[in-house]
Amino acid sequence: MDRYRLHVNGRQREVRVPGDTPLLWALREELGLTGPKYGCGVGACGACVSLVDGQAARPCVRTVEESEHTRITTIEGLSARGDHAVQRAWLELDVAQCGYCQPGQIMAAVALLARTPDPDDEQIAEALRDNVCRCGTYPRIRAAVRRAAELARGDR
Ligand code: FES
Ligand code: FES
Repeated sequence: MDRYRLHVNGRQREVRVPGDTPLLWALREELGLTGPKYGCGVGACGACVSLVDGQAARPCVRTVEESEHTRITTIEGLSARGDHAVQRAWLELDVAQCGYCQPGQIMAAVALLARTPDPDDEQIAEALRDNVCRCGTYPRIRAAVRRAAELARGDR
């Protein structure tokens, strides 16, 4: 086992795992951060999406070794009280059905709004294109991203 230091949700954490361990495993199994979900394990479904240095990333296809010296944010680290504009919009529009894909959808939306505060429908569709929802909540997700943009601007 090797020892790796990971900067997660504003804290330095240490994990003892082989360097090629997927970051998703370390987050979920070593650090107890189960917000990022395991769906496909090959970077195709988006269930695990979290932020790495502020960008949407898929920790199922990143190793622990390559994640040292980055800043990782999981949905648990988005806001202390769960009141980030995206989370508020998601609740307001009652987006989730089974909920399994939703942490990844939310984190992809957070990354989109950080770089494009007022995205149009095409930009939303493009940013969330590879986040799969088996319950088909796509219309509510798109509406919630637009609503989150309003909330972040301070609109009521
Ligand atoms: S579990 Fe990471 S993209 Fe599917
Ligand atoms: S809410 Fe069930 S998979 Fe998206």
